[in-house]
Amino acid sequence: MMLIENAFSASTCGLRRQQLMEMAGEDALLILPAAPERVRSRDTYFTYRQDSDFWYLTGFEEPQSVLVLAPGRKHGEALLFCRERNPEREGWDGPRLGPEGAVQALGLDDAWDIEDIDDILPGLIEGRSRIWYHFGHDTDFDIRLIGWVNQVRSKIRLGASAPHEFLELGYLLDEMRLIKSADELALMQRAADISVLAHEAAMRAARPGIHEYQLQAELERVFRMHDACPAYGSIVGAGDNACVLHYHANRAQAQAGDLVLIDAGAEYRGYAADITRTFPVSGRFTQAQRALHELVGRAQAAALACALPGKPWNGIHDAAVEVLTDGLLSLGLLKGGLQENIESGAYQRFYRHKTGHWLGLDVHDVGDYRVDGQSRLLEPGMVLTIEPGLYVSADDTTVEEKWRGIGIRTEDDVVITATGHRVMTDALARSADEIEALMAE
Ligand code: GLY
Ligand code: MN
Ligand code: MN
Repeated sequence: MMLIENAFSASTCGLRRQQLMEMAGEDALLILPAAPERVRSRDTYFTYRQDSDFWYLTGFEEPQSVLVLAPGRKHGEALLFCRERNPEREGWDGPRLGPEGAVQALGLDDAWDIEDIDDILPGLIEGRSRIWYHFGHDTDFDIRLIGWVNQVRSKIRLGASAPHEFLELGYLLDEMRLIKSADELALMQRAADISVLAHEAAMRAARPGIHEYQLQAELERVFRMHDACPAYGSIVGAGDNACVLHYHANRAQAQAGDLVLIDAGAEYRGYAADITRTFPVSGRFTQAQRALHELVGRAQAAALACALPGKPWNGIHDAAVEVLTDGLLSLGLLKGGLQENIESGAYQRFYRHKTGHWLGLDVHDVGDYRVDGQSRLLEPGMVLTIEPGLYVSADDTTVEEKWRGIGIRTEDDVVITATGHRVMTDALARSADEIEALMAE
């Protein structure tokens, strides 16, 4: 429990802010607004989700806030603008920390009412030569920032100095977020464990005639039962729908004999899990379904064997592609030689996506995949998914009928360790035999 609280304690976030300021340099100012609130319909808002970077650096959930880091500033470096306390509004929307409460709770140096940002921020910008900021994430804020900078520029003749370098904040922050601490990994393990329970509940609820949304309800019931929410729109695709990579309608009815592909993960304290399993709604795979499912499993095992510290990121994808292509040739779905099918990309008819991505506060987490033109080498503390799949279009008359409409993906979450890796989602049934056994319980 201690570890879970630690990931966003005032001292942990303080250390992150300190590290960021050291990288940014003394003459820099870092500006990071909270996520904007978004209208869902007329006067109703989407459930608020804090910006991942803002959350990482503050552990503060409130909207209408702006974090400003001013390295070397005598009167305080870690500064926040946030909503003032307001008993009337708090009676509608819930409690606010207010600037004074925020300084205390979040370990900041100073904080002001967000209403005063136009008066105060230009003064903080003045005299700094560079600004680190996420340009293009929030157009409304971009325009306000330009306004504040222009206000400083307008005083140059009076002796003010305005920033002349504008830099992408992600260049510094993404690298920090890419390597997860033990405290962060504890939260990610919790997200993974909740997601495993959710997938098990969905597999147990499956029966011919069930609707995709009913399986989605099982998953998301388990998420909420554990104080989590979906990390992304749950994908529940029965039959041919499994071949739609980002399927989201979740409205169809699963018929006896269908496979169901579920790609769903919990978000816990901001951290995502991302799991896919494909199972037969009736509890037993057909021979053709099992053959493709096992091939995907072999590709995943080969990819996993490459998830080692010091090994290149793209080795994971290359290993999966080789096994999948070889298997597709053996099963007669592709013709010709292995290398020729890999080099020509012929396998992409059945495997259109990459084998994984970084995972963290964002489901497709931040961090470069290539460094100096080369595939990045894996390091302890990186978390990634391994998610090979095969998708045979229902109207592909060039393949035997038994393969048509089969879509399969198997996705697990993996942390790179000093000596190898750990599969955070290992507890969930994966092979065809394991899935059938779970569904028969
Ligand atoms: N759930 C999105 C993905 O697997 O990348
Ligand atoms: Mn994924
Ligand atoms: Mn996924």
